Formats: sequence, C-alpha cells, structure tokens
Amino acid sequence: MDMEIDEPTNGTSSSRLAPIEEVKPTPKQIKRIAAHSHVKGLGIDTETNEALPEGAGFVGQIAARTAASIIVDMIRMKSMAGRAVLLAGPPATGKTAIALAMSHELGDGVPFVPLVASEVFSSEVKKTEVLMRSFRRAIGLRVKETKDVYEGEVTELTPVETSESSGLGKTISHLLIGLKTAKGSKQLKLDPSIYDSILKQRVEVGDVIYIEANSGIVKRVGRCDVYASEFDLEADEFVPMPKGDVRKSKDIVQNVSLHDLDLANSRPQGRQGDVTNIVSQLMAPKKTEVTDRLRSEINKVVNEYIESGVAELMPGVLFIDEVHMLDVECFTYLYRALESPMAPVVVFATNRGTTTVRGLDDKAPHGIPPEMLDRLMIIPTMKYNEEDVRKILAHRTEAENVQFDEKAFDLLSRVGSEKSLRYALQLIAPARLCAQTCGREIIDLGDVERCTKLFMDRSESLLKAEEAQKRLAEKNSK
Ligand SMILES: Nc1ncnc2c1ncn2[C@@H]1O[C@H](COP(=O)(O)OP(=O)(O)OP(=O)(O)O)[C@@H](O)[C@H]1O
Ligand SMILES: [Mg+2]
Repeated sequence: MDMEIDEPTNGTSSSRLAPIEEVKPTPKQIKRIAAHSHVKGLGIDTETNEALPEGAGFVGQIAARTAASIIVDMIRMKSMAGRAVLLAGPPATGKTAIALAMSHELGDGVPFVPLVASEVFSSEVKKTEVLMRSFRRAIGLRVKETKDVYEGEVTELTPVETSESSGLGKTISHLLIGLKTAKGSKQLKLDPSIYDSILKQRVEVGDVIYIEANSGIVKRVGRCDVYASEFDLEADEFVPMPKGDVRKSKDIVQNVSLHDLDLANSRPQGRQGDVTNIVSQLMAPKKTEVTDRLRSEINKVVNEYIESGVAELMPGVLFIDEVHMLDVECFTYLYRALESPMAPVVVFATNRGTTTVRGLDDKAPHGIPPEMLDRLMIIPTMKYNEEDVRKILAHRTEAENVQFDEKAFDLLSRVGSEKSLRYALQLIAPARLCAQTCGREIIDLGDVERCTKLFMDRSESLLKAEEAQKRLAEKNSK
C-alpha cells in the first residue's frame, strides 16, 4: 500500500476557497413544507401511467395527479419549457400538494422554485425584479467538467493544532486525512479552510468523499457500502468504494441556476462553487449589482456553453401559488418572459372562480387576464368525498404522529367532509394539546368536540359576521 503525504494544492488553496454559505429556509417555507410532509410524490402506477387511488401519501384526485405526472414527463423531456399550467379548484383540494409532489418527482437536478404571488409585493424590490429572479432561479444548467480529484473512503481525519498558543485557544494548522480506494491509499495534508467544509458536510471516517485538486472543494459522496449493515444509518446513501487510484480524473456534473450565476458574478470575489468560477473567469470582474446587462452577458456565455456541449439547459419549474394575487403588470411581464428562449415551466394555482384582475376593473376567470389564460393548460381539482377526507386525515395524523380513538376520528372525519378538510386538519394539533393537558396520549371524542366549539370554521365565522351586521342594521333603522 503506498502511503504518502500529498498536498492537493500549491499553497494557495485557502485564498482560492469560497466561503460556504448556508441558505436558511424562512419560517414560512418550513410551515408550508410541514403541511405537506406526508406527500412524497404523485403516486403514479408505473405500468399504466395513471395515478394510483392511493400512493406516495396522496389520496384520490386521480385525474389531476395523472395530468400533473404527464406534465412532469414533458418537463423531463424538455418539451414543456415556456409553457404554463394552472391548477384550479376549491380550497384544500390538494393544488399546492400536487405542485410540491411534482417537485419531488422531478428530483434534485431540475430546479423547482415556489413563490406565493403576494411575495411579489412584500419586499422593497420591484415586483418584476422579484419575478425575474424567480424565473432565473427556475432555469438550471448542468455543467459537465473533467476534474483532477482525490477520491476515496476516509480512513483518518485528524486536525493538527498549531504548537504556539495565541491566548485565544489553539488553532488548527492543518488537517491530515487518509483516503482509501480499492487500489491504494493516500494521506493528504489539507488547509484548515477545507476542514470547515468537511465539518459542515459532517464527513466522518467511513464516508466516501472527493477533494478537487486545484480548488480544494470537498464533496461528500455518501457512506461507504462496507458499512451498509449499520442499521442506524438506514437513511444514508451508501456508495461503493471507489476503484482506481486515489488521485484521478473524474467527470463532475454540477447543477446551478442562472440566478446563481447572476449572484456569483455580481460580487467582486465571484466565487460560489465551481461552475460559477468558470463563468466568472469570462466575465469582467468587480461588478456589484445584478443588472440587465450582466444578465444578458451571462446568457451569452451560457449559450456558448450549451452550444459547445459543456453545459445542458435544464428548464425547471416556477410555481406561483395564489396567482389571483398578481396584478396586471406582473401578468404582462410573465407573458413576455414566457416567450423568451430560456424560460422555465410556470405552474400557477388558484382557488378563485371569476374575480377582478388586480389593477384592472374587469373580472376574469381566476383573476387571470384572458391573454394569459388562453395559453394555460388547466388542471382542475375536485372536492373530496367523505372516504377520501377520512384517508387524508389518516395520513396527516400519522405524519404528525397523533393518535385518535375511533369515535374521535369519526367525528374529525365528519367535520372534515361536512365543514372543510382544512378546518379538520387544523383541529388535529389543538385536539392533541387538549388530550395532553389531561395526561392522555390518545385523543378522545371530548377533545375533538371541545376544539370544534372553541374554534370556528370559515363558513361559521362568516355566518356570525353576517348576523352581527344584520343586527346592527336593524338597530340603526329603529
Ligand atoms: N389528495 C390528497 N392526498 C393527501 N393529502 C392531501 C390531498 N389533498 C390535500 N391534501 C392535504 O390537505 C391539505 C390542504 O391541501 P392543499 O394545501 O394542497 O390545498 P390547496 O388546493 O392548495 O388549497 P388552497 O386553495 O386553499 O391553497 C394539505 O396538508 C395537503 O397536503
Ligand atoms: Mg394552496
């Protein structure tokens, strides 16, 4: 076995490395995802290409799920770019859930950008700029490059501290890492800045990683399948031990979005990862703002990459929920943007029937101007029957890890189909709390009854408001 100390870079690694940023989801996103955590996909029968009556956490809504899966296939085949789809139907009929399931089906390589229409108005940025950014986030680029890398199973991970103490505690002078392949092994001495990236990816002994020789960028590939029997690591991805030498040429595929490239090139240091590095080499340095000019320059470079076969365009999905909230200016912008050669697929959702288009006096179906509506493929969603409501609630209680006794669950299902599914879904958490305060884990009939009295559903609250108005009008007329 050959053992050698090898440095992957020529000493400039620390200055070349990009600080790795973690993108923290906003609390709103966490909530939105949690509400649909039981939905893992569209639940399609792979033989018939039809939605299963129940599959991947989805219940019923078969026609809409089947239609969504056809759209997913078209996106994969890249025959959907520049087109738009509308999910239209009453509240809580699974429109948002279907859109998120589409993103599961598309996988990581295809960008999926969710946006709630009102977010367009909520920031200080111009609304068309918000739309433009989201558009560019939804256009992916797959770049293939051959890189010189060190790859292998980690056999040793030893941070070496500096001998002199600075009074602020000890600092790491370098990191010793052992990498093993089926053919050999190497010991590398790495710059401390690479150690940060190793810590962030939680690399441990027994993982397979690769380190790019000239940039020092580290990527954890997975857990070496030698450890596949450790049952507490079931969720981890197991990968075989790499064959060949530790140092070798490797084809690396990276996914970036046009927005990533815009950002990376708008910063003077302009280094976010690898692909961005190549592009930034071509771009004039010291830009500080994402301007239209910068975007068109990036488009030019991207087109060259596509033509030369280095990169492949991956049009993704821009999902705009509650689309009736958009105004006429936004629609005009979107209409034009969809015509551009680099456009993603836009999926809209709304629960509105005929309503006023924001910014216009006219009413239109779903609050969408007729020119836009004309070019949409519309997928309707239908109200659920009692049996479906019951099954959806069962999926939700399981996802939230809540237990109901039989009578309590019967009542919850009845409430769900007679009042609304969303109301029933919202009663799960307070009912659990009621039970817990009484020292019970299982929710009983009394808990659900109590919650239905404490909390009103939408129609009940509307009725109360109307009654109050009527009483007030009567009082005033006396
Ligand atoms: N067919 C289904 N199978 C399983 N869960 C479902 C199904 N339909 C809806 N749900 C769940 O019910 C809840 C409400 O659905 P969702 O938010 O997707 O409705 P929506 O049609 O987007 O409603 P709105 O018009 O109010 O936005 C979510 O938690 C969703 O995951
Ligand atoms: Mg929704």
